[in-house]
Amino acid sequence: MTFETPEHLIRRFKVLDAPEVDFFLPKNKNGPLGKSTLEQDNDEIKAKLPKLFTPLKIHKNLEINNRIGVSPMCTYSADNKGSKKGEATKFHEIHYGGFSSRGPGLIIVEAASVVPNGRTSPEDLGIWNDDQALLLKPIVDFAHSQGVKIGIQIAHAGRKSSGVAIPEHLQKGISSALEGWSDKKGPDGVFAPSPVAYDENNSYVEPQEIPTSEIKDYVKAFGDAAKRAYDISGFDFVEIHGAHGYLISTFLSSTSNKRSDEYGGSFENRIRFLLEIIDEVKSENHPTFVRLSADELAPNDPESWKIEDSIKLSDHLVNHGVEVLDLSSGGINSKAERRKTNQGFQTQYAKAIKDHVGDKLLIATVGKILEAKFANDVLENDDADIILAGKPFLKNPGLVSSWADELGVRIQLARQYEWPFHPPPWNLD
Ligand SMILES: Cc1cc2nc3c(=O)[nH]c(=O)nc-3n(C[C@H](O)[C@H](O)[C@H](O)COP(=O)(O)O)c2cc1C
Repeated sequence: MTFETPEHLIRRFKVLDAPEVDFFLPKNKNGPLGKSTLEQDNDEIKAKLPKLFTPLKIHKNLEINNRIGVSPMCTYSADNKGSKKGEATKFHEIHYGGFSSRGPGLIIVEAASVVPNGRTSPEDLGIWNDDQALLLKPIVDFAHSQGVKIGIQIAHAGRKSSGVAIPEHLQKGISSALEGWSDKKGPDGVFAPSPVAYDENNSYVEPQEIPTSEIKDYVKAFGDAAKRAYDISGFDFVEIHGAHGYLISTFLSSTSNKRSDEYGGSFENRIRFLLEIIDEVKSENHPTFVRLSADELAPNDPESWKIEDSIKLSDHLVNHGVEVLDLSSGGINSKAERRKTNQGFQTQYAKAIKDHVGDKLLIATVGKILEAKFANDVLENDDADIILAGKPFLKNPGLVSSWADELGVRIQLARQYEWPFHPPPWNLD
């Protein structure tokens, strides 16, 4: 009696290792996750695929398998102690791994600060040193083992830094006793373009003004962070956080930028800081994403940043080689209107800019996009090129599968999750 297995069965059924990670992981058999499956890969069926499930080439080195991305979301779970400050933990590996194994087109890892005092809270991720970048590498490797593209948002919270992590409560301006730095004067304190607090009523501190001679240090910190993200962590792209009242967006708006040097005053001066950062971050081998608050939502304040400013800025982003503009809104002005809560409430901004830039810039839209049909219509109408979702992914890391079901598309699932839904033939020959 022989127990030898015929060659063809070995070839067909031997479980291969995924090479991207250093532990045993069954390699996915049929290619990258989230892509419409092979049987839908013939031209006739492809032509009928909903745009949401078509691939998109973002850069010579980056093509995504579908148009759905995980929006950056702080988890306030980074280490906050001593030299380990800002480091990712096992939580981050599990959290982002859960998304990766379910096939989004791309993932944008939460805001990681480019300097220690640019964190919104002591539990924010950092990417100001090489150890932090190395601890992000397993997250990237795992995403790549699933054929999923992954980037990271690089940030400085400016006058909104040194707060309590949002899940605790919205107290701002915490001091050294709680691992914060709002009580510090000098280089380790809270900095912004001008000494104007976000909101005096909520204990936000008055920031120190960044001296003109030090602006280049901030620009370099963003550039160094991007380099670490590429060379050490292996990310596919970085997103520059220019939204929500953080440092870059406070340079853009006249309500927060009162400078009289070449970084304040005119529109051209206020956008200079962002453009210098883009030039520093830009890399031949990776696309650059920028997130903006398209509108400050303070229409009656003549000094506020408005959608018309974002449209004007988009021409400069094109000229500086940005590939993707990701449009959020608000967060800059404590007296602004509250954001609307209808589905796709920020898609109007994506459309306004898409109509202006056409194919010169890819546009990502985000904000309460809850249904596959809605998301797909946004793309089919050419209002945007990429759909990002935040909270929907927190509730349902398998959002891409759910949306595929909703639109009647079959996508490639992970080996571990595919067979219960699409069982293999049980009769072996
Ligand atoms: C828990 C949480 C954390 C967030 N952290 C960030 C962040 O780090 N960077 C950022 O640009 N936006 C952040 N956002 C905003 C989201 O990226 C997204 O724009 C917003 O939640 C609206 O999309 P949604 O309705 O799909 O959640 C966060 C949102 C949530 C809910």
